[in-house]
Amino acid sequence: MKRILVAGELNVDLVFRDCQAFPAPGREVLAEDAAMVPGSSSMICAMGLARLGNPVAFAGKAGADGWGDFCVSALQGAGIDVAAVQRDPALRTGITAAFSTRSDRALVTFAGAIGALRAADIGDELLGRADHLHVSSCYLQSALRPELKSLFARARALGLGTSLDPGFDPERRWGEEWQALLAEVDLFLPNDVELAGISGCESVLDGLRALDNGRTRIVAKRGRHGCATLERGQLLEAPGFVVDAVDSTGAGDSFDAGFLHAWLRGLPLLDAMRWGNACGALSTRGVGGTARQADAAEAQTLLEGAA
Ligand SMILES: Nc1ncnc2c1ncn2[C@@H]1O[C@H](COP(=O)(O)OP(=O)(O)OP(=O)(O)O)[C@@H](O)[C@H]1O
Ligand SMILES: [Mg+2]
Repeated sequence: MKRILVAGELNVDLVFRDCQAFPAPGREVLAEDAAMVPGSSSMICAMGLARLGNPVAFAGKAGADGWGDFCVSALQGAGIDVAAVQRDPALRTGITAAFSTRSDRALVTFAGAIGALRAADIGDELLGRADHLHVSSCYLQSALRPELKSLFARARALGLGTSLDPGFDPERRWGEEWQALLAEVDLFLPNDVELAGISGCESVLDGLRALDNGRTRIVAKRGRHGCATLERGQLLEAPGFVVDAVDSTGAGDSFDAGFLHAWLRGLPLLDAMRWGNACGALSTRGVGGTARQADAAEAQTLLEGAA
């Protein structure tokens, strides 16, 4: 089994469900339910990979605070190696408060330590203990982002495979680095909005064609519609699974876990796309990103039922 190193952000989600209304100035509203759950793209992906039975290590930075303790014990509880998670008393762990009503969601984030990880924190010795390096949410990881290309190049030189989920750019600038960066990335996993932003193309097919460099496998996630990639110049699509979705937070990160799980085992491309779809869909059964992530048997059952 391939050993996977996830390098990225740790963050706590405070989820307030079924609020009577969105909070307004001077008012208080009641929520039907509240929970504190592991947040952040990197943590959700790492926990999804571990749940599927993969050996996972995490490299990141958190504050020396209760939120950081919560993140580290969530990772440890999932069987993830946290030796490379640094606790820094000068930092505060990030938090997102998510307020949902029956019709919509509103989020407030304090980024805290999210932007503090540097490529230098991910040393060659740590890379040498893994077979694959995955990074998520590069726009939020402001210190790491300009160093990502050299980090991936170093990982590849040490024989690791590389994957990247860009996440959303809150500033919607999307950046100029993509052609050079993708040259060091084996697998690129944007959603359709991120693909459009980065490629400047409206349609998924045009976006995939615009970013195609002949070596990076690019798979675009499309919510309940599943995912698509470019194969021999044409669009190859894997439709999503029909599920009773409760909350789609982190579905993209669970998709990444499912796709990587299959891809790192050498399964055919379309099977890896379907594994991604199954794990993304199954993760929507619970509130937050990690409560109902699929194990391999659950994903297999959904895949076989649909075959
Ligand atoms: N409502 C749904 N029904 C079925 N499958 C879903 C649903 N929502 C998401 N998925 C599955 O999860 C995958 C990833 O979801 P999505 O496209 O929303 O990613 P994302 O926007 O990156 O999500 P995230 O909020 O985690 O960043 C989809 O490709 C699909 O396979
Ligand atoms: Mg995403």
